[in-house]
Amino acid sequence: MCGLKHIFAFILGFIFLSTHIVDSCTSVKKDLALGFTRLPFNKSYYKNHKPYNLPVEDRYSFVNGVHKLWVFSTDQPFARGSPTLPRSELFINGYKYSTGVWQFEAHVFVPHGTSGVSLMQVFGANPHATTLMVRVYNGNLYYYRNKVIYKDIYDKWFRLNVIHDVEGNSVKVYINGRLKFKGHGRGGTIHYFKCGVYAQDHDSFYMESRWKNIKIFNKSN
Ligand SMILES: *[C@@H]1O[C@H](CO)[C@@H](O)[C@H](O)[C@H]1NC(C)=O
Repeated sequence: MCGLKHIFAFILGFIFLSTHIVDSCTSVKKDLALGFTRLPFNKSYYKNHKPYNLPVEDRYSFVNGVHKLWVFSTDQPFARGSPTLPRSELFINGYKYSTGVWQFEAHVFVPHGTSGVSLMQVFGANPHATTLMVRVYNGNLYYYRNKVIYKDIYDKWFRLNVIHDVEGNSVKVYINGRLKFKGHGRGGTIHYFKCGVYAQDHDSFYMESRWKNIKIFNKSN
């Protein structure tokens, strides 16, 4: 009888402990959409930035819900005479903002070899052009050139969430639901999101990224 009680107590204790362990894990991986409003997103909400001398189909495809963007280091810039390096990006011009908290979510795939490139930008800053660049160098995801956000990203889909709080002066990057980077805002008055490939430094000859399930959310601060 006594032995049974002990076993029972042990089992109860185990259940209690394990639910607490599970709780502490799930609290790390929180629902990032909580409190946000999801906004519509379709082709009316973005434009393509691509080498000015090429048709969009030469550097972009949209098949089975996957946006594929690619560019070569020898390509022309997006506008004639622009000093910027080549790019093939979705410019989400349907949502330009200057206040509030804005969130970009997508699943991203970067094939092996793509390097020296910006994958995603929060445009608008002062005196810089951008508040955030998520870049790839040699298979790792970086905050600009400075800080590794996430390692070993080639050839697999991962979920990227970027949350920009304008009044809160912060930008956060989540990978697969987990916070991997938190930085400050960089000023500026008009912001918007961009994603794709935009050559930076030490860019590989061929650069490509794929995007699906792009979602835009916002809430007031
Ligand atoms: C895009 O979404 C908006 C808002 O839901 C809708 O009014 C519009 O017709 C859609 N456009 C396309 C091309 O699907």
